[in-house]
Amino acid sequence: MSLALEWAASHTTVATDPKTTARSAADLQAEVGETITEGGIGAVRAMELFDEVLLPATRSSEDPMNLAYIPAAPTRAAVAFDTAVSAANVFGGIWENGAGAIFAENQVLRWLADLLGWPADSAGVFVAGGTSGNLSALATARDHALRTRGRRPDRGWALACASTAHSSVSSAARLLDMDVVTVPVDDQGHLTGGALEHELAADERICAVVVSGGTTNAGIVDDIASVVETAHRHGAWVHVDGAYGGAALAAPSVRERFAGIERADSFIVDPHKWLFAPYDCCALLYRDPRPAAAAHSQHAAYLDAIDRGESNPADLAAHLSRRTRGLPLWYSLATHGTAAYTAAIERCLSSCRTVARAIEEAEHLELLAAPELSVVVFRRPGWTPADYRRWSQRLAKDGTLLCVPTAFRGEVALRLAFVNPSTDPQAVIEVLRTTMLEADGS
Ligand SMILES: Cc1ncc(COP(=O)(O)O)c(C=O)c1O
Repeated sequence: MSLALEWAASHTTVATDPKTTARSAADLQAEVGETITEGGIGAVRAMELFDEVLLPATRSSEDPMNLAYIPAAPTRAAVAFDTAVSAANVFGGIWENGAGAIFAENQVLRWLADLLGWPADSAGVFVAGGTSGNLSALATARDHALRTRGRRPDRGWALACASTAHSSVSSAARLLDMDVVTVPVDDQGHLTGGALEHELAADERICAVVVSGGTTNAGIVDDIASVVETAHRHGAWVHVDGAYGGAALAAPSVRERFAGIERADSFIVDPHKWLFAPYDCCALLYRDPRPAAAAHSQHAAYLDAIDRGESNPADLAAHLSRRTRGLPLWYSLATHGTAAYTAAIERCLSSCRTVARAIEEAEHLELLAAPELSVVVFRRPGWTPADYRRWSQRLAKDGTLLCVPTAFRGEVALRLAFVNPSTDPQAVIEVLRTTMLEADGS
């Protein structure tokens, strides 16, 4: 036991290794061998394998030069407290079992609801990630439509979103047996109420609209105000996917981009993305939690004694047992204060703008869009897809910079996502300057 605790204590303060990365399962099998045996291999050997073989075969998401996908940058306080949460092992599904822990999670959810401009009776729950948050919110929307409209449309339900919505939205639609109606975006990539109007008027199956509060690929925030106005006029639920970008609600320099969110029906943000919490953590909020409770509450003989008048997180998403995964964020927020969060998010936004400006000014690079949040998308004119791949893999291998190719408006591009306040924009600019001048990317 002490081996694991000592490891956890030292790891919360040790810098991560940007070079660590995946190996094949066959390779790992050869080095690790069988660990699940009748007699056990003992804590010393298990810990040794974890520290020396298994963990080095993962890629650190926290390195300041990891700007691929959506990386992570949990505070040391949040990481440390995650260990405390594990040790406490609270059942966070119902108030009766988890009251104190749920109370603290609810204070964090209240902070988020205030950022959204939502009323006192709005409520939420922490789930594992954006995918399950989107699924639970859309299950609520579909259930609410059935209850309010009284019948399922003959051709089933549908949701509307832009093609830039995260892949988890179409995955949720598949699971919920809903069709996806793709709405064209404006020339800057925003879903707007104007474009939505036509789809909603033409298709009574649409019971939910998903807007992006920061697309993953380019950090674009849809026109939430016009979408909410249009969707509500047609009786459709509005869900805001802020898994990545929702953290920017706390940043005054971009808060205006989210105008209209105060009238949305549900919202998610992943604290493991840009709110400096460890995996896995998604905050799912409802402006009015009653439709969520109607959709998700589980009933069984052994559950009937639950006091439904209390705040029971199990009632608001597709789960029953749950870890109180909001607590690492709670501890870090309580420790550092919300002003430190605002400053850290603003620092990421500022780093992104600095790098975007340098890209715009660099003769050998092309900025593809001015960043709305903290993702910058650009290209290296003259490079082939293979050049991009080679360049990306070379830098990943030597731990210089993690940046992987993407597609943007039909062409191969690169993207950098800034969610780590420790990222030094000048270091990123220097890497781009020194490694992208070569014509072939080798
Ligand atoms: C906008 C958006 N929504 C949803 C998700 C899915 O979140 P998760 O990976 O936590 O399931 C992501 C992940 O990157 C995202 O960027």
